[in-house]
Parts: sequence; C-alpha cells; structure tokens
Amino acid sequence: MLGSFTYCNPTKLYFGKDALDGLNEELPKYGKRVLLVYGGGSIKKNGIYGKVVEILKANGKEIYEDAGVMPNPTHEKLNEGVALARAAKADLILAVGGGSVCDYAKAVSVSVNCDDDPWEKYFINFDEPTCEIVPVGCVLTMVGTGSEMNGGSVITNHKQKLKIGHVFGENVFPKFSVMNPEFTYSLPEYQMVSGIYDIMCHILEQYFSGTDDNTSDYVMEGLLRSLIHSADIAVENPADYEARSNIMWTATWALNTFVAKGKATDWMVHMLGQAVAAHTDATHGMTLAAVSMPYYRYILPYGTEKFARYAVAVWGVNHEGKTQTQTAYEGLERMESWMKKIGLVMNITELGATPEMLDGIVNSTKIMTGGYKVLDGKDIRAILKASY
Ligand code: NZQ
Ligand code: ZN
Repeated sequence: MLGSFTYCNPTKLYFGKDALDGLNEELPKYGKRVLLVYGGGSIKKNGIYGKVVEILKANGKEIYEDAGVMPNPTHEKLNEGVALARAAKADLILAVGGGSVCDYAKAVSVSVNCDDDPWEKYFINFDEPTCEIVPVGCVLTMVGTGSEMNGGSVITNHKQKLKIGHVFGENVFPKFSVMNPEFTYSLPEYQMVSGIYDIMCHILEQYFSGTDDNTSDYVMEGLLRSLIHSADIAVENPADYEARSNIMWTATWALNTFVAKGKATDWMVHMLGQAVAAHTDATHGMTLAAVSMPYYRYILPYGTEKFARYAVAVWGVNHEGKTQTQTAYEGLERMESWMKKIGLVMNITELGATPEMLDGIVNSTKIMTGGYKVLDGKDIRAILKASY
C-alpha cells in the first residue's frame, strides 16, 4: 500500500539543444555576484565555460570563480569553497559540471552563512540548515547522479575514511538546471558508462524494497528498459542524440525523489560503494557496479518474488517451466552479462581495494534497514569479500 507523503520538486529544468538560453531567463532573478563553480577543466576544453561566461557577462554579472572541484569532493575543498563564497558575497552559485560540482555547490550554499563546521553539522549530525541558503543553479555536463533535481550532496572525508551523503530538503534543491544532452558528448566512455550504471542503481535501490503493489515499481521497470535500450545505442555511438537525451532524462527521473514517494527503499549498494570510495577514491558508478552482483545474489533469497518479477519485466526472461528462484537468478545473470558488455568494472580490486583495506571498508559501511535483508557486519564482510 502506498504510504502517505507530500511531494514538491521546485527545480525548474531547461532541457534540449538550446537549454543554455534558459540562463538568460534565470540570471535576472538574482543579484550581480555569481560564484562560478566547476571541476578540473573539462568545461574549458569542450567550450562550455566560454559559453557560460559570455551569457553571464551579457547579463551584467560579476564573476567569481571556484575551480578544481574534484570527483568525490572533499571536506577540505568544501571549507575552501565556503571561504571563496563568503569573500565573493555570492548572490548565486552557478555549478557547471557533473554530480560532484552540483553536490559541492549545494554543500557550499548551506554553509556560507553558518558558523559551524559543515562536515560535522551536515554530514555527521545530519542537521538541517538554519541559516540563509545561497541559491544554486546547475549547468549539467555529466549524467548519472540526479543532483540536478534533488537535494543530495555527498562529501568525502579522507582523514576519517568516510564518504557521506546528506539528502537536503526542497530549500536546497537547485533553483534551476540546464540540461543539454550535447554537453555530455565529450565525456570519456568510462565516465559515461559509470553514469549509466549509477542511474540503473538508483532505480534498483528504490525497486528492490517492499512487497506491496506500487505504481512506482511499474514506472521504474519502464525507466530501466529505456535506460538499457539507450545505453546499448550510446555505447555504440556516443553522439546519438536520441539515446543520450533519453539517458539524461532517465537519470533525472531516477533520483528526483518522485519514484521513492510512498514506498520503501534500500540504498545498501550505495552504502557499500561509498565505503569502497572512502578508501580508494574510485569513480562513483564503478564502485556501485563492483559490489552490485555480490550484494544482489546475497539478498535474492530474501526477496525472490521481486527478483523474479525484475527478471521477466526488465530482462525478458521466460519464466515458463522454471521455479521462481531459477527465474530470479536468470535475471541477475542477464544483468551481469550486460554490465560486462558495456564495460563496467565488476570487482573492487580493479578499483584499487586491497585485502588490507577490508576491515576499514566494513567499518565505513553504513547499514540501511529498508532492503530485503538487514545486513550485519558479517554479511557486509562476506559481500565485500565476494566483490574483490
Ligand atoms: O572535473 P572535470 O574536469 O569537469 O571532469 C569531470 C570528472 O573528472 C568529468 N566530466 C564531467 N563532465 C564532462 C567531463 N569530462 C568531459 N566532458 C564532460 N562533459 O567527469 C568526471 C566525473 O565527474 P563527477 O561530477 O565526479 O561525476 P558524477 O556526475 O558521477 O558525480 C559523482 C559524485 O556525485 C555523488 C557521488 O557520490 C560523487 O561524489 N552522488 C550524488 C548524488 C545526489 N546528489 O543525489 C547521488 C549519487 O548516488 C552520488 O552519490
Ligand atoms: Zn549514485
């Protein structure tokens, strides 16, 4: 049965080949001082930086820069960004990049006017912001996280070996996001497929939970079929606009809070993947891919009916003459072959995890309780061992 909920998503989206023009509509709503946040420089190579700066100048903005946001943005970088945003007295934070840049911009936005240490306040204690929040807008260049239309912000603390996400409320969602699928063409294939798996995993984290009849599950089966179809095309031809635009849109729907409403969710693959990343700093989607099969095979006996439904509805497994368990495992086999085919990393060794890190990764894994089995330390160790 659907649980009770309230739903509101305040992010305005500009989608398509001319999406960047949306900045001309949005920028006049904010003051003069814009903090332009970006990553390691891909936007300078592919020309997006130049286009954005031109529009900012045409709108009479003063531009202050915060460059060098790394994948898996760190606590130290967050402190640096807060200082830069304070010095700039930013009226708007414009994030141009992938999930890391958008997540980081949100973390800065809730910390500029707050005296506490943001890591302790938001990522250890999960407090909600009580100070004034600087508005954030995004120009998305990498597809996967859904950060363009949600309140998620994930920060890594290497000293504490923790990578933690805070899912903020509507007041922290980007005010607007610009989504031009062509901006993603310059992504290296490794990042593209990593993002594709991130999308799949977001959907599965919300699908493999609960036993009720729930509209969201049907929606998610459709999203998954579209994603698999478009991913196959994009891997063959990365400049296929139809496929890249469908992938971009699916990513947004996968994690803009809509399909989670009224139903239970899991998120254990993300907890395992984040723990691996806290020790290896590996690419987000790849950490998820590397632990997924061991995790799903481990929990399948506790949620066999849903795994069998998934096999038939998403992977087209013919269930006739088979037990529910056989059908369920066949679905996972098809998923595994597809993952290998598109070039995902299927073990954590390849991501830099060593046997010596095992205890630390187990300790860094947060346990969630919405999945088909609530894991304990022994279960986590067994799943991680099978992921090496
Ligand atoms: O830094 P630059 O030079 O821009 O290069 C980036 C980076 O190296 C590159 N890139 C991005 N767009 C490009 C491009 N290269 C060429 N052409 C382009 N158009 O791609 C690399 C990865 O970028 P990143 O932003 O790190 O990737 P992603 O979008 O996967 O974001 C990952 C972060 O988001 C968090 C992850 O944990 C991780 O920290 N997540 C955020 C979530 C949320 N907000 O709800 C949920 C997710 O589960 C996830 O945890
Ligand atoms: Zn993710």
